[in-house]
Amino acid sequence: MPFAHITGWGMYVPEPVLTNDDIAKLVDTNDAWIRDRTGIRERHIARENDFPSTLAVEASIKALQVANLAPTELDLIICSTSSPEYIFPATACIIQDQIGATKAGAFDLLAACSGFIFATNMAAQAIRSGSIKNALVIGTETLSRFVDWKDRNTCILFGDGAGAFVLQASDKPGGVLSAVMHSDGSGANSLTLLGGGARHPATELTLHEGKHFVQMDGKEVFRFATRVMGRAAIEALELAGMTTNDVQWIIPHQANFRIIETAAKYLKMPLEKFIINVENYGNTSTASIPIATVEGVEKEKLKVGDKVVFVGFGAGLTWGAMVVEWTGPLPATKNVHPEQYRRFARFRSWIRRTLRFIEGIFFRREL
Ligand code: ACO
Repeated sequence: MPFAHITGWGMYVPEPVLTNDDIAKLVDTNDAWIRDRTGIRERHIARENDFPSTLAVEASIKALQVANLAPTELDLIICSTSSPEYIFPATACIIQDQIGATKAGAFDLLAACSGFIFATNMAAQAIRSGSIKNALVIGTETLSRFVDWKDRNTCILFGDGAGAFVLQASDKPGGVLSAVMHSDGSGANSLTLLGGGARHPATELTLHEGKHFVQMDGKEVFRFATRVMGRAAIEALELAGMTTNDVQWIIPHQANFRIIETAAKYLKMPLEKFIINVENYGNTSTASIPIATVEGVEKEKLKVGDKVVFVGFGAGLTWGAMVVEWTGPLPATKNVHPEQYRRFARFRSWIRRTLRFIEGIFFRREL
């Protein structure tokens, strides 16, 4: 059975930064309160022409560059997002087209902030089963579009960004060692975005009622998160035959510093072993774990051979954890330039759309 290695990683955040002081001009809050209760100081916010797919394309190309893998060699793309570009088509398909991953199957996975762990596990399972060799897993968000900027309970929390991993098959032991995924729909009401779906299709009334905004019972989510984070990490470690003593790094979902602190106490691990960057990005939902991972690598914290635990929670309710042996890129056999495929992909996409248009004219004539 092949092993599923994380061989590439990339992140991208939109340039504009919104500080706590900026938010204090919009709602009745202040920098001290936000920092004290959440650990967040600032977050990046999407510009008008930033979308989940455009952020994801930037992160994905970087991940492919690290892995030295051409987009055309991808078999599978899973995009986990809580703020999809549309209900359908899947954001993953838009990304697939824009990076030129011509032979990849692509779909979205919705498990809110746990989505990146769930998606990475699905890709790893597909690799380990032998059915595919190369996968791209993405977490991408522009949740700022779904936040009520008049609601101080939620608008302080979220930030926009994207992160991506390339996973590849190899006979060399390592990579994804274990994973656990959990859900409890009885807590579905704690964190919701109700409008625009089949139960509440968009109408003037849903708009008036603010159903297109994130609604959250913050205290309930906080209680749930502190209950499950540590336990999920232990469960995944046990499945891998390890204990916390074997672990060099914990990379948690970056929602709230106090939640991470509680998990550290539960695990009896020092905070120094946690990669934490919630201060600079806020909660980027599915993108938070890959963004923290990329920073961990760039700051030379994560090293080859390190055992790492990813752990997260989110709406659903969902939660999960994964143990990984960090291995880095596979040995290069040739040099590829994934960014060149992106340029060609735009041209190819235009040709395909034009051909489809012409085909449509002839088809109508035949009818
Ligand atoms: N600024 C100032 N005061 C505020 C603010 C604010 N931004 N927000 C709330 N308050 C007030 C409240 O009105 C309340 O006042 P009151 O006592 O007069 O009623 C007081 O501060 C305390 O409010 P709490 O809700 O008890 O504050 P708490 O310490 O619980 O912190 C928070 C709130 C930060 C939202 C916290 O509950 C939390 O982080 N919960 C988890 C949220 C989360 O992680 N969500 C994402 C999940 S992942 C996903 O799937 C997207």
